[in-house]
Amino acid sequence: MKRTLVIVGASYAGVQLAASVRELGFDDRIVLLGDEPDAPYQRPPLSKGFLTGSFAEERLPLRSQAFFDEENIEWMPSTRATFIDRERREIELHDGSRIAYDHLALTTGARVRKLDCPGASLDAVHYLRDLRDAKRLAETARSTKRAVVIGGGYIGLEAAASLRQQGLDVTVVETESRLLARVASPWISDFMLRAHVQRGVAFELGRKVVALHDAYGVVSVELDNGTRVLCDLVVVGIGVIPNTELAADCGLHVEGGITVDACARTGDPRIVAAGDCASLVPHWAPPGGRVCRIESVQNANDLAKTAAASILGRCEPYRAVPWFWSDQYDLKLQMAGVNSGFTDFAVRGSVEERKCSLFYFRDNTLIAVDSINRPQDHMLARKLLASGAHVRAEEVRDPAFDLKSLVNGDAHALRGAA
Ligand code: APR
Repeated sequence: MKRTLVIVGASYAGVQLAASVRELGFDDRIVLLGDEPDAPYQRPPLSKGFLTGSFAEERLPLRSQAFFDEENIEWMPSTRATFIDRERREIELHDGSRIAYDHLALTTGARVRKLDCPGASLDAVHYLRDLRDAKRLAETARSTKRAVVIGGGYIGLEAAASLRQQGLDVTVVETESRLLARVASPWISDFMLRAHVQRGVAFELGRKVVALHDAYGVVSVELDNGTRVLCDLVVVGIGVIPNTELAADCGLHVEGGITVDACARTGDPRIVAAGDCASLVPHWAPPGGRVCRIESVQNANDLAKTAAASILGRCEPYRAVPWFWSDQYDLKLQMAGVNSGFTDFAVRGSVEERKCSLFYFRDNTLIAVDSINRPQDHMLARKLLASGAHVRAEEVRDPAFDLKSLVNGDAHALRGAA
């Protein structure tokens, strides 16, 4: 009897999961459905090269049509799953039809958090999550001069850099007192702030937008201190909300995201979840640690591989080193590991030349590395973190010390040795 795997959500996690189950020998039916009309595509370029025009639309697809054909993956575009009937093991679609499943994967991702203030639905307000958003924004940016970006996270800063590079005047409004407060260290926040200021971006930190007014075709962005910033275009990047409704409605446990164990399994043995929608206790959390969601391409791909193995009955706990990147102007920022709770850090390379890495330690243990225009450090950092190599802050600061030697099998370099 042929089994059916239905995957709900056709972005990074969904596509990777389909590819991985095939690789692992799943020969039966795979249905990959998603509510977007476009073939699964890369999202990171949307706020970067796609917006500046240096990354053509033809390069966006994650996989070619030939891949779906050859792997016999039934990709269903513009298809929205509306209900999971766990008892009958069927999934209901927007048109009322149903597909029976033996295995179900929820890779439903996340949607943008909407601005909630008077004027938030003006035409000049843009978001940046999917291809349609990016096309609309790119089109508008070509004919406008002034932009206000709401949110100083990665999406906001990447949008600010891309718009500035196209010659727009840009002001970023951020509620926190520093940029990237959710994800980056204060050092990186300061560095990125300086980089943007040097290129002429203005900032309103620690400020809330209270209203947007349409003043005869110009938008006036009103802040909580009474300041009004005039612009033609508003880009909102204030975070995302996981798409967990399908899971919650059928009684699966949801805590911040669709809760899964280290093998990407939900409480229902036939259902796995992966990507931005899933929450789990990460392997780097201290004992008793809480579940959290990890929003990154790396996590979507790696957790999807774990989920694929689980579908085939192999529990291979998720152990991947988290990593992330952001391109702004000529700065390539790459992060490996999680720096929360760091107690010390050491800088390697040249800050003046904008080629440096920050190595973060918690109680003398290396926990994360942020690299700026030092991709070789980033790759090495991932190996150091994966192998648990013992790295010392003075070694990081010493340019003559070869950090590579710590990953190349030096027994004394391994944590716990000697
Ligand atoms: N006004 C101004 N700033 C706000 C407001 C608001 N009303 N609400 C939130 N913010 C700020 C937050 O303080 C935060 O710094 O917006 C920023 C949002 O940053 P993120 O939460 O990182 O979200 P975003 O940048 O939108 O990225 C969404 O896309 O590229 C991925 O990794 C990224 O997964 C993330 C997702």
